[in-house]
Amino acid sequence: YKENDSVNRKVFLTGGLGYIGSHTAVSLIEAGYSVVIYDNFSNSKKEVIDRIELITGFRVPFIEGDVRDTVYLEKSLKKHEVDSVIHLAGLKSVGESFSKPIKYYDNNVVGTVSLLKAMNGAQVRTMVFSSSATIYGVPKYLPLGEDHPTCAINPYGRSKLQTEEILFDLAVAGIQAEQLPWCIASLRYFNPVGAHSSGLIGENPNGIPTNLMPYVGRVASGVLPKLNIFGGDYDTQDGTGVRDYIHIVDLAEGHKAALGFLAKHSGAHAFNLGTGVGYSVLEVIEAYERASGQSVPYEIVSRRTGDVAACYANPSKANKELGWRALLTLEDMCASAWNFQSNQ
Ligand code: WQD
Repeated sequence: YKENDSVNRKVFLTGGLGYIGSHTAVSLIEAGYSVVIYDNFSNSKKEVIDRIELITGFRVPFIEGDVRDTVYLEKSLKKHEVDSVIHLAGLKSVGESFSKPIKYYDNNVVGTVSLLKAMNGAQVRTMVFSSSATIYGVPKYLPLGEDHPTCAINPYGRSKLQTEEILFDLAVAGIQAEQLPWCIASLRYFNPVGAHSSGLIGENPNGIPTNLMPYVGRVASGVLPKLNIFGGDYDTQDGTGVRDYIHIVDLAEGHKAALGFLAKHSGAHAFNLGTGVGYSVLEVIEAYERASGQSVPYEIVSRRTGDVAACYANPSKANKELGWRALLTLEDMCASAWNFQSNQ
């Protein structure tokens, strides 16, 4: 769509100080992109700016702001003359979304509409959106392709699905109105884990982690006594839940590949970012013990409400159309997670 693929070189990262944002910023900077970070610190720390500088040698321009502040957002987009946005700012706890649905719809859906208005005003029409495999609901078949029926089964998942639908409608409207067309990629993350090899950035949730990998890290380091495995009677090879874990660095590279794709394609497109391989909780524990040299005591308890037995991707569309493939192994994921955990 756009002749010269050097466009999309100045990227605005909403939520860029978070786990996915900081790794994406590093990948982009190392590939020669210039990056601006916009973040409200709701789930991140300002010191991440220093960590990104330590890794890349660049001090990223940073703006403290909320995506729901449309006026400030438009001013920021114009001031930095960006040509694309990677939208990572959002709330992501399935459990919390059941008890606080308004907070999730306000941040995730209203926040994205606010960002789209600001982008429109600033004439920025390229967006990579942080979506999730949660929108597929209970898998009807595996592996999951992008054409698998969507059926979000929690407010968090519904907020992501609704946002994808808004983005698809926008892309169609843009083409019909013969305006500057929108170029949109919704990236459906499977289970991002691990950390940058430097050990300087990684997943460090406030409070008790709800996701498996950070919880395992705190058991391995003795901060927590044992892991509770939620269910040992699923219809999987060892009875525990199976997921498609993807190294955060592979995920970050997927965002860079999506920008390259959007430099040449308009319209709205969805891509699964996964490895295509599923591992059970017990397999993750074994890999983590091998990688860390630490033991991870566990107890099998009852299932967690809302969990599915197994979920893993068919990543062939992203492999082909984005020219991207997950390369790092479960061993790499556990070793890098342990390296980051040991630095805490
Ligand atoms: C993985 C496996 C659990 C914790 C969630 C969101 C998803 C995405 C990634 C945002 C499951 C088991 C976990 C524990 C356990 N987030 N487990 N004990 O639920 O696959 O996906 O995070 O986009 O949207 O739904 O990830 O890490 O919570 O669980 O046994 O203490 O580990 O049952 O089988 P999940 P998870």
